[in-house]
Amino acid sequence: MGERVSGRLGSRAASCLAVGGGLFLKAAGALAADRVETPSIFSPVSTPAYEIRELSFLVLGLSALIFVVVAGMAAWIIVRFRSRGDDRREPPQIYGSDRIEIAWTVVPFLIVVVLFLVTARYIYGIEGRAQPPEALEVTVIGNQWWWEIRYPKLGIVTANELHVPSGDDTRAAPAFITLQSADVVHSFWVPQLAGKMDVIPNKINRVWIDPRKSGTFVGQCAEFCGIQHAWMLLRVIVQPRPEFDRWVAAQQAAAHDDPGARAGARLFASLSCINCHTVRGTAANGLFGPDLTHLMSRETLGAGAARNDPESLRAWVEDPATFKPGALMPAMRLSGEELGQLTAYLQTLR
Ligand code: CUA
Repeated sequence: MGERVSGRLGSRAASCLAVGGGLFLKAAGALAADRVETPSIFSPVSTPAYEIRELSFLVLGLSALIFVVVAGMAAWIIVRFRSRGDDRREPPQIYGSDRIEIAWTVVPFLIVVVLFLVTARYIYGIEGRAQPPEALEVTVIGNQWWWEIRYPKLGIVTANELHVPSGDDTRAAPAFITLQSADVVHSFWVPQLAGKMDVIPNKINRVWIDPRKSGTFVGQCAEFCGIQHAWMLLRVIVQPRPEFDRWVAAQQAAAHDDPGARAGARLFASLSCINCHTVRGTAANGLFGPDLTHLMSRETLGAGAARNDPESLRAWVEDPATFKPGALMPAMRLSGEELGQLTAYLQTLR
């Protein structure tokens, strides 16, 4: 019984790892030049992720023990009781043994109880952590198929790339993340920082992280949420405090107003772009799509679907479906000249 339960859990975990690994490889492939760590739960950089690894070792250790015992006994029985020579007699038939049946029911049950209690303790330990007053507050909103990222106390709105400061051995830098959904159920998962947390409409969930080193840590929506679920990628950019402070100051600044890009700006304001996108300080105040005030400060377009460079940006505006079939942004059927003006304007939004 217990063997079967843990075996099933094991194969489910293995297939999740394989699927997750494939998606991350896809993400890493699209941005191969970036230095991004493999998003393994076995290389944590933040307290909840360290605790999850600890628990995983316990579960994997117990599963390995069960595997060795069961496979070992099976192998021994196959060898010890194999048919020998021309002995064709039927072996003795044994019906029932109370002692053995009780043992193989009670032992697995106790193993499951132990796993349940230990896991519950870890979950309560992680989720029950009180928010320290110095913690950075972030709201992450799942959308089909991108992440809106808001810093309510800093007045910053961005998308798909979560910037947080890094702590070190002497000083923690906790960030408490409030999760909301604008449409369907998503799941927030950055394996090196924290466990998975579902992002549910009309419900507020929370996760917290306290990264101990700088770097880019990739994550992924982990709940099937529609055709572009696999391209709902998330990057967490952990920066030393001074670098993070500079990023905050740059994000708080108003949109850059470049006289050389006025034609594109006018075009942007005259098209339906402004109904969905915000460029702070202009007529564009739409809320359905990503805030573009500092678009060029981001590494990727379309939640990790493409690198944020001029060619991809132009191709994206021309027809988002080339990168993300099903993306809610429509192709605007612009002429080559209009496309050039619009792309030039967007590139000034640093
Ligand atoms: Cu959002 Cu899957």
